[in-house]
Amino acid sequence: MLDQSQTPYADAVAHYASHDWLRFSTPGHQVSQTAQPELTEFLGRRVLAEDVQPFVDGIDYGPSDPLSQSLALAAQAWGARKTWFLTNGASKGNLMACLAMRNFGTEIVVQRSVHSSVIDGLALSGLDATFVYPSVVDSLGIANGVTPEALADALDQTPHAVAAYVVTPSYFGAVADVAALADLAHSRGIPLIVDEAWGAHFGFHPDLPTNANRLGADLVISSTHKLGGSLTQSAMLHLSHGPFADSLEPLLDRAFKSMQSTSASALLQASLDLARKQLAHEGLTKIGTTIAAADALRAGIAKEERFSNVYDVIANYPDVMTVDPLRISLDMQSGGISGHQARSILFHEHHMHCEMATSTTLVMLLGAGTQPDVHRTLSALSALPQINQGKSALLQLPATGERVMSVRDAYFATTEVVDAQSAIGRVSADSVAAYPPGIPNLLPGELITSSTVEFLQATMAEPFGHVRGGSSTDMSTFRVVAK
Ligand SMILES: Cc1ncc(COP(=O)(O)O)c(C=O)c1O
Repeated sequence: MLDQSQTPYADAVAHYASHDWLRFSTPGHQVSQTAQPELTEFLGRRVLAEDVQPFVDGIDYGPSDPLSQSLALAAQAWGARKTWFLTNGASKGNLMACLAMRNFGTEIVVQRSVHSSVIDGLALSGLDATFVYPSVVDSLGIANGVTPEALADALDQTPHAVAAYVVTPSYFGAVADVAALADLAHSRGIPLIVDEAWGAHFGFHPDLPTNANRLGADLVISSTHKLGGSLTQSAMLHLSHGPFADSLEPLLDRAFKSMQSTSASALLQASLDLARKQLAHEGLTKIGTTIAAADALRAGIAKEERFSNVYDVIANYPDVMTVDPLRISLDMQSGGISGHQARSILFHEHHMHCEMATSTTLVMLLGAGTQPDVHRTLSALSALPQINQGKSALLQLPATGERVMSVRDAYFATTEVVDAQSAIGRVSADSVAAYPPGIPNLLPGELITSSTVEFLQATMAEPFGHVRGGSSTDMSTFRVVAK
């Protein structure tokens, strides 16, 4: 057993930074106050001194270098055989997973509500996906996860699938039955890949869900910076022990090299090392405090009887095994204010920055180990004005358009940009996702429908509404496959 209180890589970076180096290497700021006075003022000299290039003796170079030790500690902490530190977010983990799986064949089963980076991975790798649909809570317009039954149907349709790719937990905190999904995939002789971007903290406290590696998933993408505590853009990929590990490991090593910058940030990697220590070594005590704060918030909100808990609704869905206690997902519909309005007022008037909103919901995240001010939060929520009469208007998630080309063929086809009206009935060349929650509403190769166009335009019209991946910011035009 490795000692989870240790942080070899972060220590090595700090040790290097503590010396007065004569620097003639990248990064070219070279910790020079004359060259970069504003940057030094902005970040502090220490951060610049720790911004060290890769391949440095005593940091990440040599057979038993500190980086390898920290990677082994991370693998042990999540119950994995091998872990990669990612400096381009969990997005990069999804690209790596798709590239690696393409070595085994051309077909894959993918949850339709995956993050757009998985779709980019399909386009890059050329994997052809059969999509399996998650359950959708119609009254809230949100998607949960997939059931083993739904996955089994999709696998029946795709006998040559090389893997099953699911995402859990959802943005709203719904956790699917990973153990049953893994058993099912294994019974068909294929690995289960889990995008656990929102569950980096899972498994580090008895009141949290177990993490996907320990439940039988073969490959797990984890966005450590989300609730795990590391710096933005830092993430991990975990390869589990198990029958697929031997064949997958070299493929993932290669995909990692293809996707990784040759100048991976030491600051991001050190933050992964330090966050892992907090979760694995201190999580038991610290996360309990955070869960208690989340429970107090939920109790305070319930007492006011104005906003209700999304978990009360989604707990009844067959694909929802459990929920993440570190998320407060509120149904705003009976509160006289939409999720978007509430998020905007909380931001501008209360300096309260909530993770996301939809027209009907507001989602607040509590990072593992944090201790938010419960009183201030409840007061801010109580002070929200009643703006609307009756229920907030619900932007209905549109049904997806028929798929007529593969993602890759449409992505690389000759394309043209046409106005929204003319785009209806044409084949999309883009992956377009309304943020939040970032689930692609339109994929390359799908026919564009009028309801999708209306939904994307309405999302853009909302405060904080943002659509990623389209050819225009207001969704007035769409990139389509040329006729
Ligand atoms: C399910 C899911 N996977 C992957 C990602 C990408 O994560 P990152 O921002 O770390 O690249 C996100 C981002 O929100 C996500 O929601």
